[in-house]
Order: sequence, then structure tokens, then C-alpha cells
Amino acid sequence: MNTVEWSDALLLDFEPMDTVHREFVDLLALAQTAPDDALATTWRAVVAHTVRHFGSEDDWMRKTRFASAENHILQHRVVLNVLREGLVMAEAGRLAEVRDMAGELAVWFAKHTQSLDAALALHMRREPAGISAGAGGGATRQTAGGHTAQARY
Ligand SMILES: [Fe+2]
Ligand SMILES: [Fe+2]
Repeated sequence: MNTVEWSDALLLDFEPMDTVHREFVDLLALAQTAPDDALATTWRAVVAHTVRHFGSEDDWMRKTRFASAENHILQHRVVLNVLREGLVMAEAGRLAEVRDMAGELAVWFAKHTQSLDAALALHMRREPAGISAGAGGGATRQTAGGHTAQARY
């Protein structure tokens, strides 16, 4: 099985993404090393975190009108659906399939981070100050109509 491991090659120099990616690696590592009776619980945590992880990236892409958003958002949706199927399998006791999925997810994550996420991080670093991704943070942005809107991320 391909076990996930943090490496500086995964750093994208955009702190909000790097933080969430480190958390993802930690949670996936927990699932990959979980005993059988803890696999469903740890996988559920991976899925819940991934909802938040992909949701933040999708929000950034939409709010900044990122050119490659469509493909990236679609990839997130497909992968999240697969992970949710994995949860159903874990709860049904199909643990070998979930462990295979975890290995595939580790490989996918490294590729995705170094391609689509790297492009998004580069884009976000160039965004004007005010795009804040911290939990509970907010930013004041000018809407098309010239009104000022308070956006929460
Ligand atoms: Fe990501
Ligand atoms: Fe992504």
C-alpha cells in the first residue's frame, strides 16, 4: 500500500492550503495505520476534513474567478464521491477495499497537490490582500455593483 507521508515537496507557499494539506496527511496516515475496528471512524474523519478542504479551495476559485476552476472543482467532486463510497464500504466491513482506496488517495493527493493545487496556490499568492482563508476570517471585497460586501471564508 502507498502510505501517505508529509514532504516539503508538497509545500505550496500559501499558508492556508499548506495547513489544510498537513492536516489531511495526518488524518489519512491515521486511517492507513488504523486497526480494523477503527478504520470506519478514521475514514469518516478523512471524509469530513476533505469536505472542508475541497470546499475552501472551491470557494477561493469561485471568489477570485480562477480560470481553471471548472476542472479543479469537478475533480474535487469526483474524489469526494469516491471517498463517501469508501465510508459506506468501511461501515459494511469491506475493509480491504477501503485500505486500497486509502493507498490510491495518497497517490492522487500528491499528484493533485503538485499540479492543480500548485496552480491555485500561485494564483492565490497573487491575489490582492484581503483574500483571507483563516477559519472565521473575513475580507471586505468590492462587488460588481460597487457595493462593499463582507465575505466570510
Ligand atoms: Fe488541496
Ligand atoms: Fe484541490
